[in-house]
Amino acid sequence: MADSRQAPTWELDELSHAGHEHLDATYVAGYDQKAQTDWSEDVAELQALGIGESSTVVDLGAGTGTFAEAIAPHVQRVVAVDVSEAMVAKMRERGIEAVQAGFLTYEHKCDLPDAVMTRNALHHLPDFWKALALSRIAQMLRPGGVLLLRDLVFSFAPGEARSSIQRWLDSAPTDPTRGWTSAQLAEHLRMEHSTFTWLLEPMLERAGFEVAARLLSNDGIYAAYTCVRV
Ligand SMILES: C[S@@+](CC[C@H](N)C(=O)[O-])C[C@H]1O[C@@H](n2cnc3c(N)ncnc32)[C@H](O)[C@@H]1O
Repeated sequence: MADSRQAPTWELDELSHAGHEHLDATYVAGYDQKAQTDWSEDVAELQALGIGESSTVVDLGAGTGTFAEAIAPHVQRVVAVDVSEAMVAKMRERGIEAVQAGFLTYEHKCDLPDAVMTRNALHHLPDFWKALALSRIAQMLRPGGVLLLRDLVFSFAPGEARSSIQRWLDSAPTDPTRGWTSAQLAEHLRMEHSTFTWLLEPMLERAGFEVAARLLSNDGIYAAYTCVRV
């Protein structure tokens, strides 16, 4: 008889889709300098939405934990989740409550999170799995809870894809320690699963979110969504 505790044979292996570089301790060590992320606007947005000293926040695909560090002084609890052992080790070095798990496996314990952040991570999942992951996030949040979703999500028309992508690659830095190079962006397109806004937005709604705000970058490459669990 099949063991009901085992993942089904068709379950996605999140680790093998996580991006080989994210599993590499040398890449992880240089990640913050490469990304140079300023989280102040995201922290301010969460505060404006009522996230404060009694709140619990979960960051999914948290990387090295810089968002967790930025939000921690303003909330009661932050849990930073990443599928990569190297990323989780880095976060634990920093004193962050870090859990090694994926979008499809993380089980939140003890309280109902008030907010979930996920930035530049959901694109690691193909669309079918994105829909399941978003549904899990909605189930995890308290009613009225907030999801901030930031990712490479395309808002150019399919017919403009080649020119839009070429402009994006042409604007990439050449120094890989300071950002993502043209070759790395090309690999993102070949290997990962960025999708169109008009595919992702119905997934958010189906999962049980209302999209309260949406910011699209002028080049059609990035999207920032503020979603409320209905
Ligand atoms: C580009 S980094 C972004 C890290 C961080 N959110 C940031 O904005 O700096 C993507 C992160 O997602 C993680 N990741 C990839 N697939 C994942 C999955 N299925 N579940 C959880 N984390 C995942 C990777 O290990 C990596 O740390």
